[in-house]
Amino acid sequence: MRTPKNILVTGGCGFIGSNFIRYLLARKDFTGRIVNLDALTYAGNPQSLADLAETHPDRYRFVHGDICDEAVVKRTFDEHAVDTVVHFAAESHVDRSISGPAAFIRTNLVGTFTLLEAARAAWKTRTDVLFHHISTDEVYGSLGPTGRFLETTAYDPRSPYSASKAGSDHLVSAYHHTYGLPVTISNCSNNFGPYQFPEKLIPLMILNLGEGKPLPVYGDGGNVRDWLHVADHCAAIGEIIARGRAGETYNIGGNNEWKNIDIVHLLCDILAEQTGKRKEEYTKLITFVADRPGHDRRYAIDCGKIERELGWRPTPDFRALLTATVRWYLDNPAWIASVRTGEYRRWLDTHYGAR
Ligand code: NAD
Ligand code: DAU
Repeated sequence: MRTPKNILVTGGCGFIGSNFIRYLLARKDFTGRIVNLDALTYAGNPQSLADLAETHPDRYRFVHGDICDEAVVKRTFDEHAVDTVVHFAAESHVDRSISGPAAFIRTNLVGTFTLLEAARAAWKTRTDVLFHHISTDEVYGSLGPTGRFLETTAYDPRSPYSASKAGSDHLVSAYHHTYGLPVTISNCSNNFGPYQFPEKLIPLMILNLGEGKPLPVYGDGGNVRDWLHVADHCAAIGEIIARGRAGETYNIGGNNEWKNIDIVHLLCDILAEQTGKRKEEYTKLITFVADRPGHDRRYAIDCGKIERELGWRPTPDFRALLTATVRWYLDNPAWIASVRTGEYRRWLDTHYGAR
């Protein structure tokens, strides 16, 4: 059992990173310190953690910096005596990787390389340290109607985003095999929950439903994703950094496959329930638009390994978790206003066009 003292979280102002920092600070058995290194790109929102400077002044520090900046990364390792890295920072949105792949190559590949080099230099022969790399099920490619991704499934990334994540996974793995760096990797399915930037399917639909705007469904709406609440993802990462075996990969998923069109209908249903309006007021907004180029058809994760080895399991009640998520977006207009500044835009206006 590892008990990290000084955790470097990269990308902690993003969706999953901010949830993970809150999760760690809420754990009674974690008494260590957290340093959050984030470049505050369009997806990074300091508002997501605004209260922590006051509630945890001795245990939480924010460093505004880029993971590609060697000097900043080295200084962060040294000044904070980092013994554990949980590496979330990335360009994370597939659509953006199609229209502008350069940032994905830079942050996801060069940034991960820069962190690995800093860890290698700072830790030398230490074995009580861990570099945990957060990755995605998208590295495994696209499934047909049956089967699920295992940790042993061959990589087959198909978008610039998933290719850059696959490359970063290989780098992390190579640093373990070549230099003996203690690493773990997790490949997770689609997350939902509070603080998610509203370019992703679920928060985008919730905002558009709330404002009576079109609900853009790509292609025929039959693409399948395996949805997991972000709190479950954070708990899985918590188990891995405490008890995961160095050199291992762990798949994380929700056992919860949905076609996109069915998720959109479910959201219409929940909105109607929450507002008292007729469901048709919402379903009439559904708009089929041109498909995402190279759109992966189906993802599904087999998370048997982490269940067996670390006793982690996803929470089963999807409708209840999704309803709580809808409520969070309806109840937090100030957070939504804060992410709409800067480079915020909804993709319906800018890409693929109408079908
Ligand atoms: P996000 O886009 O919400 O947040 C990314 C964060 O990284 C932001 O705070 C941003 O400012 C920061 N960042 C970006 N470039 C940086 C750089 N060069 N230096 C420092 N910080 C930088 O992402 P997310 O959805 O929270 O995803 C986090 C991680 O989890 C990513 O690695 C992603 O690939 C992986 N992942 C996401 C999902 C999902 O459903 N969202 C599922 C599986 C895996
Ligand atoms: O599977 C894990 C991955 O999940 C993560 O690695 C990525 O960081 C994360 O962005 C997510 O990728 P997806 O492409 O699956 O998520 P997104 O929310 O963009 O889209 C989910 C599905 O919904 C996908 O099939 C495309 C579709 N979609 C998406 C949007 C934004 C629509 O039909 N309409 C939309 O407006």
